[in-house]
Amino acid sequence: MGFVSILGFAHQLIEARLKPGEAAIDATAGNGVDTVFLARQVGAEGCVYAFDIQESALASTAARCAREVPDRQVELLHRSHAEMAAAIPEHWHGRIAAVTFNLGYLPGHDHSTITLPDSTLQALDSAAKLLRRGGVITIVVYSGHPGGETEAAAVDRWAAGLPQDGYQAMTYRFVNQRNHPPYVIAVEKR
Ligand SMILES: C[S@@+](CC[C@H](N)C(=O)[O-])C[C@H]1O[C@@H](n2cnc3c(N)ncnc32)[C@H](O)[C@@H]1O
Repeated sequence: MGFVSILGFAHQLIEARLKPGEAAIDATAGNGVDTVFLARQVGAEGCVYAFDIQESALASTAARCAREVPDRQVELLHRSHAEMAAAIPEHWHGRIAAVTFNLGYLPGHDHSTITLPDSTLQALDSAAKLLRRGGVITIVVYSGHPGGETEAAAVDRWAAGLPQDGYQAMTYRFVNQRNHPPYVIAVEKR
């Protein structure tokens, strides 16, 4: 039967927590796979905020949302996820149920546009504050591209340094795959 895939595992963690009517954030919209997944979970009453710094990625996410979840409230934000705290309306602060990150570059688009440690860590700090209790952050981490290993190490350290009384942090990874397989870091707010 095989183990659950990396993305499937991240989605399972979110499915168990994100409820209709809630708000969620896709920190790296790309082609919108996670955005649509989150939009399905929150239903027509909830909302999703999706960030990307590439216009072509947001266009792709917009097209996917129009096709797959036309009735959902999805706000596309053409700005860095480092600005997450300022970009998310105040009334959702402390009430966000899920934040997804999918690091690295977007296949089929500009491969030189990658997530970077400084902005990623800034966004993760904001995400941890924006979450409600029981809310979850999932981070799919890639280390195979130039710069990926440095970012992965920074994110590992960030997660390991979270105070135990405020957060639970874990990893899900395959340990015998070739070529730097991606892995998930997940954080739940207590
Ligand atoms: C691996 S892709 C995401 C894939 C996406 N989850 C999907 O379903 O297709 C990473 C995305 O992060 C975006 N990105 C890079 N730096 C960013 C930043 N500082 N803020 C927001 N998005 C960023 C890239 O433009 C790229 O589209």
